[in-house]
Amino acid sequence: MKVLLIPGSLRQKSFNKSLAIHIKNSQSHKAEFEIFEINDVPMFNEDLEDNLPEAITNLIDLIKSSDGIIIITPEYNNSLPAPIRNVIHWLSRKYSKPYILNKPLGITGVTDGGFGTVRAQHELLQIAVVVGFKVDAHHRLPVSKAYDVFNEKGEIIDDGLKTKVDSFIDNYLEWIRN
Ligand SMILES: Cc1cc2nc3c(=O)[nH]c(=O)nc-3n(C[C@H](O)[C@H](O)[C@H](O)COP(=O)(O)O)c2cc1C
Repeated sequence: MKVLLIPGSLRQKSFNKSLAIHIKNSQSHKAEFEIFEINDVPMFNEDLEDNLPEAITNLIDLIKSSDGIIIITPEYNNSLPAPIRNVIHWLSRKYSKPYILNKPLGITGVTDGGFGTVRAQHELLQIAVVVGFKVDAHHRLPVSKAYDVFNEKGEIIDDGLKTKVDSFIDNYLEWIRN
């Protein structure tokens, strides 16, 4: 079982990237996780489609070889930030859409605020339905108060959160296996 993790923040010390790294390194799941680095994805522009940017061809190849995708997004201004929107624009085109159709999508996200990115996640869920991902609203995990649950090195220091992440991943893997 291969799962592609897509963190939606460009920031070097991003909590969302840290969560992706935590999932990738966790030994408790019988799956292989790969992290897609979003920083190299250019803004969607139809002019670039005749000669697709390398970041997009890489992303499509990773998706082809994945059984599922988990997007890990921050929330900006009560909504889904541009980087993930931009990735989805690229994935909704004729050269990419066949590979995301019915691909099971898990959704999580980290914020330093108290609402755990639920508004961004809700928006992502709606867009995901439109472009054809397989979605199930149960496969979402909000993570709040990032400065309390991650340390300076980006490691999760809260046992309750570790358990929640494990259970989110276990449930997601069970879903995509069926
Ligand atoms: C422009 C901007 C708007 C933000 N708006 C929200 C928001 O609406 N809700 C929220 O929970 N956090 C908001 N935040 C806080 C981010 O969730 C926080 O900076 C988070 O750490 C970003 O994710 P990252 O650490 O992966 O980069 C905002 C941050 C920025 C820079």
